Amino acid sequence: FEFSDENFELVEKILAKYPANYRQAAAIPLLDLAQRQNGGWLPLAAMNKVAAVIGVQPMRIYEVATFYTMFNREKRGQYFIQLCGTTPCMVCGSNDIKKTITEELGIKDGETTADGLFTLLEVECLGSCANAPMIQLNDDYYECLTPQTMKELIAACKAGNPPAMGKWGSLPMNGQVSCEG
Ligand code: FES
Repeated sequence: FEFSDENFELVEKILAKYPANYRQAAAIPLLDLAQRQNGGWLPLAAMNKVAAVIGVQPMRIYEVATFYTMFNREKRGQYFIQLCGTTPCMVCGSNDIKKTITEELGIKDGETTADGLFTLLEVECLGSCANAPMIQLNDDYYECLTPQTMKELIAACKAGNPPAMGKWGSLPMNGQVSCEG
């Protein structure tokens, strides 16, 4: 694994934010950069590269990459659906959202579609309980979901045109200011 020329400039910028004797503090942003360059997951070679860049033992980087769930150590789909299944979302219908995803895409928790387009992973609270049920789709939140809006979101992704988070996310899709609105 090598950082691209473009990302190598970013590596330099990230490292410049930390004192020279605390380069290890850059581990998380560098892992994130490597993961983004590598299509959303971190092979061992990328972790080793980050370790070499900041000058620590590879084990130190494995520890970080295995502790934080935002780092994926296996390939995942172009659209990475993280479905919140914690109690507030569950009470508000996350099981129906999960069922819809499984029916629409033929994948269960932890699986990726054969075409590599979608991965589904059930996760713990994503901090958006007030607008439950919700998913994180790549970097964006989509809240106040119903089976119907989940289907629409999947269709939009298949068409290569997922709506902006602002439209379907922090504000619910019906344009009201709360899920009940
Ligand atoms: Fe789902 Fe908090 S319980 S976002």
